[in-house]
Amino acid sequence: SSPEGDASADSKPKSKTLQLALVFGLWYFQNIVFNIYNKKALNVFPFPWFLASFQLFVGSIWMLILWSLKLQPCPKISKPFIIALLGPALFHTIGHISACVSFSKVAVSFTHVIKSSEPVFSVVFSSFLGDIYPLKVWLSILPIVLGCSLAAVTEVSFNFQGLWGALISNVGFVLRNIYSKRSLQNFKEVDGLNLYGWISIISLFYLFPVAVVIEGSQWIQGYHKAIEAVGKSSTFYIWVLLSGVFYHLYNQSSYQALDEISPLTFSVGNTMKRVVVIISTVLVFRNPVRPLNALGSAIAIFGTFLYSQVTAKKAKKPEVEKQN
Ligand code: 3PG
Repeated sequence: SSPEGDASADSKPKSKTLQLALVFGLWYFQNIVFNIYNKKALNVFPFPWFLASFQLFVGSIWMLILWSLKLQPCPKISKPFIIALLGPALFHTIGHISACVSFSKVAVSFTHVIKSSEPVFSVVFSSFLGDIYPLKVWLSILPIVLGCSLAAVTEVSFNFQGLWGALISNVGFVLRNIYSKRSLQNFKEVDGLNLYGWISIISLFYLFPVAVVIEGSQWIQGYHKAIEAVGKSSTFYIWVLLSGVFYHLYNQSSYQALDEISPLTFSVGNTMKRVVVIISTVLVFRNPVRPLNALGSAIAIFGTFLYSQVTAKKAKKPEVEKQN
């Protein structure tokens, strides 16, 4: 489904660009809404394993409704397809739950600053697997590491679980991307929405049993406390539901964007998303930010842009060859 410079893509570049801009806008907006309501829910109900599972549950139900109402064609489900998804879905689960654990421990903005170091993990893991990067790529990840370190040591809400959660989330998502590329090569006809739908369903099966074991015994008591803290049960339900619906929506939009753009453009878009989310959540939750912390975050984000610039130059060559 990716338009590799074919005639149909050339004939309507404007509408394509417009459509893509819309998907990006939706992706950012839905991500902000998710981050706000997820944190609001976590503030009164600090059970990230429950919320992360619930968010996958909403996505699974959403997809089942789309498929059964035929609003979205249901992909042919074959055993090899499901088997190919087991790895990517496992890493998606790890990336999601560890981000949620991090959100529950520190300011949302701090989790996203640390998550902006995802390219560092991408370079390191791909190198382990045999990819070779030029020196400038390695140099470009230096400011990311330094900026994140400065942001971490000056973060008001700092604690190690929050830091580790965000770091493990990077490992999870980078491995998800690497394994998706490898194991899903024979299933390129499956579109982003269906792919993400199946990843959600399998992730739910991975996550929920573990969630019950880890924090299940505290949920009922926690629920009563949450209602007491919020004052109105419907408000609490709305927060949880919005976090679930928008979690699915933003991922759906991001997978749809990925259908149309290169993984590189995608990662730049993802970094810009973090800038928008960091600013909005700092404003909404009125998190105190020390000047050095803001500087560290800015250096880290700037490093991600540098990284995308040097890797974009490396990736350009084959594209030119293709056009010729
Ligand atoms: C999650 O819970 O999965 C996190 O929100 C992931 O964040 P990301 O999609 O911004 O990497």
